[in-house]
Amino acid sequence: MLKIVPTSPFDDQRPGTSGLRKKTVVFQKPGYIENFVQSIMDCLKGFEGTTLVVGGDGRFFNREAIQIVLKIAIANGFGKILVGKGGIVSTPAASNLIRRRSAFGGVILSASHNPGGPHGDFGIKYNAGNGGPAPEQLTEAVFTRSKSITEYKILVAPDIDLDVLGLVRLGPGEVEVIDPVEDYAELMQELFDFDRIRSLFKAGFCFRFDAMSAVTGPYAGRIFVDMLGALPDSILNGTPLPDFGGHHPDPNLINAKHLFDLAMSPGGPDLCAASDGDGDRNLIIGRNQYVTPSDSLAILAANARLAPGYAKGIAGIARSMPTSGAADRVAARLGVHLYETPTGWKFFGNLLDAGLATICGEESAGTGSNHVREKDGLWAVLLWLNILAVRGESVAAITAKHWADYGRNYYVRHDYEEVDADGANALMQALRDALPGLTGALAARPGLIGADDFAYHDPVDGSDSEHQGIRLHFENGSRIVYRLSGTGTSGATLRVYIERFEQDRAQQNQETGGALADLIVLSRECARIAYYTGRETPSVIT
Ligand code: G1P
Ligand code: ZN
Repeated sequence: MLKIVPTSPFDDQRPGTSGLRKKTVVFQKPGYIENFVQSIMDCLKGFEGTTLVVGGDGRFFNREAIQIVLKIAIANGFGKILVGKGGIVSTPAASNLIRRRSAFGGVILSASHNPGGPHGDFGIKYNAGNGGPAPEQLTEAVFTRSKSITEYKILVAPDIDLDVLGLVRLGPGEVEVIDPVEDYAELMQELFDFDRIRSLFKAGFCFRFDAMSAVTGPYAGRIFVDMLGALPDSILNGTPLPDFGGHHPDPNLINAKHLFDLAMSPGGPDLCAASDGDGDRNLIIGRNQYVTPSDSLAILAANARLAPGYAKGIAGIARSMPTSGAADRVAARLGVHLYETPTGWKFFGNLLDAGLATICGEESAGTGSNHVREKDGLWAVLLWLNILAVRGESVAAITAKHWADYGRNYYVRHDYEEVDADGANALMQALRDALPGLTGALAARPGLIGADDFAYHDPVDGSDSEHQGIRLHFENGSRIVYRLSGTGTSGATLRVYIERFEQDRAQQNQETGGALADLIVLSRECARIAYYTGRETPSVIT
């Protein structure tokens, strides 16, 4: 039975860098998620009778939210919904399902790498028919709609059993509970040389993958263990849990320190890897060699031809602006274009759709390609495995050769988390005011040759995005970049990205860890970070 429920609008449903993200308790408010899903429905056109993909990262409230999405989507006219068993679908796998099954779009329930649970975060986003995050015009329209909505449509029906595979009727439509891994595993088999990777494991290659009690556990078990022959104990925390086992499912060197320690220990694994809450980020640490996401992007792009899916070469590389310039030199060597986009995966979608770029990446541990329209954690691990299998060298050797060949971008990101939002905005404004003529705190800084506020013109749809981060340009290609996070749920987070390029191998070898020391001091002085945020040092360094 269809029911029309009167409701009052909310005014806080503006989607950020990747969808609407709030504290779980906010999503549990009566009508909150219903209003947002109805607002999405109200902004979509021509979906009657078509298919929608629905799934999430398994966090607390995932199952309840999915039932609501199913009932509202069918009440609004969707004909069929594909939902992952147990409500589980990783973000890249959802992107693939939308594409492979020619769905109209998808609804993904996730707050990515943010902690879950009743006191953690929850999130929801809509992906379009190309499998990618909704374009900015659509998210703006949904936000506008969410502020004026007065009713939503929902089916009054018993909940669907998400744990039983198969097709069931729901009101005038149908729901198919599917294996969330199958289509994704098939795609990976098309892209990578599974025989070579199987031989690598057979030869004793030691591997650890930490699924962080989040969505990738079932994917990792099927692909690495069942299909590729890695030992079952290669997979750590392989069962998705509603609270991610109490851990922070962001695979950085702080939350995954145990992996770093393992990889640095004598006789440690050849490769340690991890993914985040919804499976789109990746962490790569070889024995005695951590690979920064920016370097990983460059190395993967330089070696992509070794995997069958990229054997014909790549059309172009795209990186987010704060990502280091390491990939730029790979693009130059390959003779392909390098696109520099604002932060957030959605900007890559147009480039991938238009065939302008093949490999994309962000410094925030996101790497991916034109195989889907999201970043993809397991994809990055598989491409590394494919490259390692073909080259027969260690991660450390491959990285060292890359630096010797292309030069090295020393790189670090400092996050000042949950600072006062007014202070953070004032800091950015002061920097902006000082840009013309390098005045204020930017005056007379050694080596500072220019500064700007990054703006992007999309070469495909012609749209412009302004105020995407303040860049200070120093001599020799060094940079300091400042921007405010668009994914936080309390206060503001200031991100500061610091980078220095060194071509000379001998010089690289002499560095003992202080390669960025001077720039770090400058990064604090130029933005008067302590003055505006009350913080002397960052809360997270990655
Ligand atoms: C962060 C990352 C960004 C990434 C996004 C979603 O956004 O910096 O690269 O695309 O998460 O995973 P931010 O919080 O910086 O806006
Ligand atoms: Zn994520």
